Amino acid sequence: REQQLKRQFEALEQANAYFQQQLRQSPERERAVNYLKQRGLSGQIAAAFGIGYAPPGWDNLMRHFDGVESATALLEQSGMVIHNEDKQSHYDRFRDRIMFPIRDVRGRVLGFGGRVLGDDKPKYLNSPETPTFHKGRELYGLYEARKHSNHLDRLLIVEGYMDVVSLAQHGIHWSVATLGTATTEQHLERLFKLVPEVIFCFDGDQAGRTAALRALRTTLPVIKDGQEARFLFLPDGEDPDTLVRQEGEDAFTERVTQAMPLSEFFFKSLSEDADLSSMDGRARFSNAALPMINSMQPSLLKQMMLDRICEITGLSLEQLGSVIDLHRATHE
Ligand code: UTP
Ligand code: MN
Ligand code: MN
Ligand code: MN
Ligand code: MN
Repeated sequence: REQQLKRQFEALEQANAYFQQQLRQSPERERAVNYLKQRGLSGQIAAAFGIGYAPPGWDNLMRHFDGVESATALLEQSGMVIHNEDKQSHYDRFRDRIMFPIRDVRGRVLGFGGRVLGDDKPKYLNSPETPTFHKGRELYGLYEARKHSNHLDRLLIVEGYMDVVSLAQHGIHWSVATLGTATTEQHLERLFKLVPEVIFCFDGDQAGRTAALRALRTTLPVIKDGQEARFLFLPDGEDPDTLVRQEGEDAFTERVTQAMPLSEFFFKSLSEDADLSSMDGRARFSNAALPMINSMQPSLLKQMMLDRICEITGLSLEQLGSVIDLHRATHE
């Protein structure tokens, strides 16, 4: 089994080398290179992220592995080849796509994200979950960020591959992306082991705002004293890529500096759902807020957030005690 995993990692590394080589040598390379240029990426940044190209065709990768023992099964296990049960045939998963290798913190290729050059659907195709690739654990760009600097003091969490690469193109080498999934506790625990501060920076659209609210709920149980989470909201219609391209490194970094602290986002979002000028609204607010605060570990921040709820409601901690697990909240 150990041997089989080793072969899978080797196959993924070899596929990665093949895609990068195709970006230089495929007859279709011009379209791919032009696409990357048009998105503002230099050859240097493309190389730093190992960006490649899977040419059009159903079996380019399989043919590249000709002569490798049981290559089809190996590629299938690695998520690179799809088995069509009905036709009893196999074909390459990634065709005519820009390829973003996803590496673990040790630099091993675990899978890929592949983007179409035009407007076809799906826009991004991702490697499937495999025994070695868990999307709820891995973060795109983390390996590259750590390689670029060995003392990171904060990390941006963005939505997309292109956001990470484009930010790096503009000098911001400290971002990571979740892989088309929500941010998980595992992601955050991993990040907080590396840096004391994370800043969520999702797209300036409804999906991005919903993702921020989910991220808030996911962060509360994880965050400890000495750690900070903040939220950067982008103008409507922008994502980190489009914004940093428009306004550059300094203006973008200034936005990061101004990002909203977790507690502020917490009170802002909850008070938008309740009219705090009425008693009923304040009750509604507290009923939503207290379970979320209860999910937090003991910390000074938690104490202060509880105090703030007391201020807003006019109730004492003891009076709130029937709703919160007061012991856990204050003494644990
Ligand atoms: P977005 O739709 O915001 O795309 O999806 P993007 O990153 O801005 O893409 P560009 O700029 O048009 O190239 C954000 C992330 O969601 C996942 C990908 O990880 C993507 O980077 N996603 C999106 C998919 O997995 N599949 C899709 O079809 C679309
Ligand atoms: Mn098969
Ligand atoms: Mn989006
Ligand atoms: Mn984008
Ligand atoms: Mn986007």
